[in-house]
Parts: sequence; C-alpha cells; structure tokens
Amino acid sequence: TAIWAVLPAAGAGSRFGGGIPKQYLEVAGLPLIAYALDALLAHPAVDGAMVAIAADDPHWPGWTSRSGKPVRTCVGGSERARSVLAALDALDDVTDDALVLVHDAARPCLDAVDLDRLIAAAAGNGDGALLAAPVRDTLKRASQGRSAGTMPREQLWRALTPQLARLGTLREALRDALDAGLVVTDEAMALEHAGLHPQLVEGREDNIKVTTPADLALVEFLLARRAG
Ligand code: CTP
Ligand code: MG
Repeated sequence: TAIWAVLPAAGAGSRFGGGIPKQYLEVAGLPLIAYALDALLAHPAVDGAMVAIAADDPHWPGWTSRSGKPVRTCVGGSERARSVLAALDALDDVTDDALVLVHDAARPCLDAVDLDRLIAAAAGNGDGALLAAPVRDTLKRASQGRSAGTMPREQLWRALTPQLARLGTLREALRDALDAGLVVTDEAMALEHAGLHPQLVEGREDNIKVTTPADLALVEFLLARRAG
C-alpha cells in the first residue's frame, strides 16, 4: 500500500505570536517543519509528502527532502481541516485506498518507534488510527471561576498526530464533517462523524505541538537531547 505524509503548514501561529509562523522557527539551524518532514519520510513505508502551505508563503524553503522522496506542496485553507482537505485533493494521482499520515508541521519530536507502531496498527484496520496519550491531570469542571466537580478521566485521551486513514475515506469524511458545520480539530473527529472508530495507539507524551513560546523551549530541549 502506498503511504503519503500530509503536513498542514498553512497556519499563522496566532497563539504563538511573533513575526514568523511557528512551523518555520529554527532549532539548531533547521525549521520545525523540517524535523516533522524528516521524521515521516525516514520511515521506509512512506512514499512522499504533501505539504499545505499558505498562499504566497515567503518562508517555505522549497526542499527536496534529505530522504530523496518527493515533497509536494499545495495551497492550504482557512482552517486546519481545510488545509488537510486541500492536500488530499492535491494527491489526485494517488489511489483512494492509499494511506495518508496527517501530521502537524509544528510537531517536530515524532519518535520513529511510535510512527512504526501507528503504521502497523493501520494494517487491516479500515477505521484509521491515531497516536494519543492518556490524560494524566485531574480534570475540573469550572463554574464561575470555582471548581464545581471532578471529571472521571479513565476514558479520556489526548489526540496527537500523526493520524492515519485511507485517502478516500478521510477525504469524504472531512468534506462531510465540514459541510455539517463541525469545527473539525483532528482527522479522527471527521472519521467519528462518519461512524468510524479510529484505533488509539498510545504514543510518547513528548510528541508535543508547539502552540506557545513555552512549548518551543521544551522542544529545543528535547531536540538538543536527541542530537547530543
Ligand atoms: N494549519 C493549517 N492551516 C490552517 C491552520 C493551521 O495548515 N488554516 C496547521 C498549522 O500550520 C499547524 C497545524 O495546522 O502545523 C496545527 O494547527 P495550530 O497549532 O492551531 O497552528 P496555527 O493555526 O498556525 O496556530 P494558532 O491556532 O495559534 O493560530
Ligand atoms: Mg490553529
């Protein structure tokens, strides 16, 4: 089966702030998106990547990846899910039964073992799969700034990326979920809306998405530790 990596990288990073979208911030001389791309393309089963970038993005460096595999780009959309859908539409020469691995461009610490376990989980699983981590914190329900109750967390997981599905299945699911007016924050949510139950594959908690400057400090530490 063909496997294509899909990287939504068309966001502006408004919560992070600053002059340059966070996926292009450099750590040890490489932008975050390069770490994300390399982690995906290093897997022998991954054939190439489609990156959704902003229209007239001045930051995209136009790589051919170190792996020698194709890296293609398309123009993203106004929300993350629309960027993913644009990337799936741009894979118009790939068959619907191919697998797509959707991974945030701002998530640079993906572990090779986790990626391998995710891909293995998808074999023979038509519902798709995603990396996820169990919730560890005690969860409070807030009412007017006061704690009004404690929520059971046994069934709660945090969705990470990559998330993996059949190209045709995910394209249709995302389109339907967006048409239904849902705010689609990950691929699994669109698949759930289509009645599917993607498999949760427990992944490393340090596969964090850079959302704020505090996250970047942590990622700098993690990437430096890995290099050293
Ligand atoms: N993304 C995208 N297209 C959008 C919005 C987001 O491709 N219209 C991408 C981002 O570039 C990022 C990933 O989706 O790689 C995760 O989204 P998020 O962390 O929310 O990034 P931003 O939307 O850029 O940040 P913010 O929400 O703080 O503006
Ligand atoms: Mg966003």
